[in-house]
Amino acid sequence: MDEFKQAQQLYDQQALCYAEQANANKNLLETRKLVYRLLTPVTNKKILSIGCGDGTECVSFSKNGAEVVGIDSSSEFISLAKNKYSELGMDFLVMDYAETSFENMTFDGIISIMSIMYKEDLTTVLLELKRILKPDGTMIVVVPHPIRKMIKYANFDYFASGLHYETWEEVTRYNYYRTLEEYFRLIKASGLNIEKLLEQKPQLDEPYQVTNNVSEHLYPHSLIFVLQAA
Ligand SMILES: C[S@@+](CC[C@H](N)C(=O)[O-])C[C@H]1O[C@@H](n2cnc3c(N)ncnc32)[C@H](O)[C@@H]1O
Repeated sequence: MDEFKQAQQLYDQQALCYAEQANANKNLLETRKLVYRLLTPVTNKKILSIGCGDGTECVSFSKNGAEVVGIDSSSEFISLAKNKYSELGMDFLVMDYAETSFENMTFDGIISIMSIMYKEDLTTVLLELKRILKPDGTMIVVVPHPIRKMIKYANFDYFASGLHYETWEEVTRYNYYRTLEEYFRLIKASGLNIEKLLEQKPQLDEPYQVTNNVSEHLYPHSLIFVLQAA
């Protein structure tokens, strides 16, 4: 089965439960705020969210005057997004982010929150996104911080990049794990410029969690790449 269909199957089964978990997760809510701030002002800008889930991450953009398109592999997520946010006039479509149907240089901003890790060939994805980003556009890519694997799994080999299965909030999902060096190399090779790299701090108003004797609040939650086409 190709990777798009695999992601579709996975998230069609878990759409409702994932959306519920994601929309209540303080770290992820903070990620969305950060991503929004990194792209402001957004008025009259055309913004694409890839792997948009139930569309909640698109709301602040739309409410602040952006024209928003959200794409996702899961038709369940796309129906959910259309139903939930019909009054905001956003466009939600089932589409593969590695092979979109958008014209060259369509978007002022592209966001990817925890969604780019479902393809082994990241270069093809980055080149496609670069193609549809305007030359002065900005792309924000958020991935789980690689250090989180070391927290969750005792003796995890930092350099063991590739396909991994992972349980988050008691549900198992797969994704391609990559080291920081790999992300850097693949992004540079695609011709995108790395404008900023942020390490998102965990939210400290949550009860501190200790996993494998490691206090999670001492480590970053995600890596946020701010990329530019030229
Ligand atoms: C971990 S979820 C993140 C959802 C949302 N961005 C959030 O943070 O709540 C990953 C999303 O990427 C989508 N996805 C995975 N592969 C995809 C692909 N090839 N094209 C479009 N969406 C994809 C999945 O369907 C899923 O909605």
